[in-house]
Amino acid sequence: MRLIKSVAEMQKWAVKNGRDCGIVPTLGSLHEGHASLIKKARSENGLVVVSVFVNPLQFKRDKFLAYPRNLREDMALAKKAGADVLFAPSADDMYKNDFESQIVLPKMFKTLAHQGLEWHYRGVLAVVMKLFQIILPARAYFGLKDPHQLALIERMVADLNVPVKIRRCETIREKSGLARSSRNALLTAEERKAATVIYKSLELAKARLRKNGHGNLRGVMSEMKKLIHAEKTARVEHIEIVDPASFLPFDKKSKEALVFTAVNVGGKRLTDNLRFTLPVSPRN
Ligand code: PAF
Repeated sequence: MRLIKSVAEMQKWAVKNGRDCGIVPTLGSLHEGHASLIKKARSENGLVVVSVFVNPLQFKRDKFLAYPRNLREDMALAKKAGADVLFAPSADDMYKNDFESQIVLPKMFKTLAHQGLEWHYRGVLAVVMKLFQIILPARAYFGLKDPHQLALIERMVADLNVPVKIRRCETIREKSGLARSSRNALLTAEERKAATVIYKSLELAKARLRKNGHGNLRGVMSEMKKLIHAEKTARVEHIEIVDPASFLPFDKKSKEALVFTAVNVGGKRLTDNLRFTLPVSPRN
């Protein structure tokens, strides 16, 4: 596996090889969830590039500085999972010449504004677009763990005719149901145990919605909250139940539901979601 640290060198490689390659964009601190994306990319492409870049545009400064960085371990995991190139540029090289251009978020993502996260997702779209332009991949692999991110990237690619196929990949979970995330490394053993309530709350919502349909979304959300708050270190930051086709509230016309939650566990914001279809019933 080759390590490329300079944008110019990556572009040189891409001109020759880009169209035959799949890219797995990451923030580093690679775990089993990333390994599964890399393996999927490996099975569908001649070449696989993994990017490791802690993007300053999507973090507040303190979180950016504190984000774990383990290039050596990332290289070992990426190589084992089947990557051909690991691209790890510096922030100065990525954002030269007073970088300013932005991609505006489509209106459908109003809930992101409610959470005060528009700036974060603008940063995500900027870096993803730059990675696509630098590496020129045929396919790109993203997890369903961040459904807003994935939907925004799909929309950007469609709206701007970006010639990259977006591949959605299932969330990888620990046995306890806890979604794999680089942030899990920041949890104490006790917090890790408490965090398993997040997936339980999503399963609870799924069971309630399947039984009762769209009728009592507030009731479902408050049951989720009650369950989560039974864990002393866990506090709900956000819950939404939407139709994943529109990101509007789930209602009787919805064929699928997406339940998303952000929970603060011991000061760490963890997110997870569950997407499922509903049996057609007279109550829906
Ligand atoms: O989900 C992530 O890891 C990041 O948001 C991404 C897509 C690599 C952009 O920095």
